[in-house]
Amino acid sequence: MEEKAKLIMEGREYELPVITGTEGEKAIDITQLRSRTGYISYDPGFANTGSCKSAITYIDGEKGVLRYRGIPIEQFDTKIPNFVEVAWLIIFGRLPKKEELQHFSEKLTRHAHIHEALKYHFEGFPITAPPMAILSAMINALSCFYPELFELETHEQFEEAAARLISKIRTIAAYSYRSSKGLPFIPPHPKLRYCANFLHMMFSMPYDLYEIDPVVEDALNLVFILHADHEQNCSASTVRMVGSSRANLFASCAAGVCALWGPLHGGANTAVIEMLEQIHKGNYTPEDCVRMAKEKGNPFRLMGFGHRVYKYFDPRSRILKKACDKLLATLKIKDPLLDIALKLEELALKDSYFTEKGLYPNVDFYSGIMMRAMRIPLNMFTVMFSMGRLPGWIAQWKEMNDDPRSKIWRPRQVYAGEKERDYIPMEKRQY
Ligand code: ACO
Repeated sequence: MEEKAKLIMEGREYELPVITGTEGEKAIDITQLRSRTGYISYDPGFANTGSCKSAITYIDGEKGVLRYRGIPIEQFDTKIPNFVEVAWLIIFGRLPKKEELQHFSEKLTRHAHIHEALKYHFEGFPITAPPMAILSAMINALSCFYPELFELETHEQFEEAAARLISKIRTIAAYSYRSSKGLPFIPPHPKLRYCANFLHMMFSMPYDLYEIDPVVEDALNLVFILHADHEQNCSASTVRMVGSSRANLFASCAAGVCALWGPLHGGANTAVIEMLEQIHKGNYTPEDCVRMAKEKGNPFRLMGFGHRVYKYFDPRSRILKKACDKLLATLKIKDPLLDIALKLEELALKDSYFTEKGLYPNVDFYSGIMMRAMRIPLNMFTVMFSMGRLPGWIAQWKEMNDDPRSKIWRPRQVYAGEKERDYIPMEKRQY
């Protein structure tokens, strides 16, 4: 029998359909709520609101489960495919056949350059411009160069747009760093794989090619894979929100970059390192940080801790912690910030404030230490997150656009302002 939820209001009883997901999670369908009852739901921050049905990523935040298209995240740690393969999986819904992956990889190679005219845009930014601002602006600017990709009606058109974005974000990211340092742009190398090519564009010099260390390349590949999608988070929801107006894929992903920038979301990877550096400089002790994070009224938060969905360990943080240890050991790097991070984690995990609120290390807690070891500059950390997350944004946008029932996202509000009142001419205002 079809399950229903009962709502009793003003003496009347309403039955609302219950939806069950493939993993048994339940939702009350309130799409008819307002038309039947005159009421709307109220859920600031949307913590109880399912905005869509999605088949891309599954998370069980209580158990610390994360799966891409059904595949547990831990399997990407042991088998470690190429990031491009994972991107294809996330976007198109199944693992690619050999020739499909090859076809997509060839497209990435072909589209790695950016239009010569776009290169001049970098000169318009001040040297101090945050790379996330440049990234968002440049992704939006890309749309000007491919107006034919505004309407993605066929599979081929969509694949073309996705490949252009995934390939060019890497070039734009590397060039934004190079222009901030006054360094010449290094063109993409047709023989290098996705991560190696990025490292080459970041660190090679015309007279001194960067030697790609496979350990660094693999670590970057893993970081990108672990960031590739995370269902309806702030940036993915932003991409859907913007895309719901039928804005093009480039504009929607540019908005996703802006949403990711904030320190409560992707920007936390930078904030974690800044916090660890403060402790390292002696401005605080790890104990001070834990105390301040717990203090009522103190806005300080333990960055890299807590998550809207995970109330137990974020499985990505466990994988990253292990990978971080291995990377530092292989590169023979002794990073004092890692010791500080371990100390903070130890203090927080034995403190009931954190455990009772379900505050555990999230993906950003260890990713920054790994990126430091790869010599990625601090202000590029959230850009790296964007590169990893792009396949997820593209998949979320596609899923919404492919759904014939999808409509423009337009929440309602409970108005809490002034009642109707008259306009007062300037000379009569007595305040
Ligand atoms: N340090 C100290 N206290 C915290 C922390 C933290 N990192 N995170 C949450 N809390 C506390 C809040 O103060 C609040 O306490 P209260 O109930 O006494 O008022 C309670 O835990 C719930 O916090 P909310 O902010 O309501 O939880 P929400 O789900 O809205 O926020 C978030 C989740 C934004 C991730 C939060 O945990 C946070 O700010 N963490 C630090 C920033 C961070 O690491 N962000 C990256 C998240 S992963 C990602 O986006 C890629």
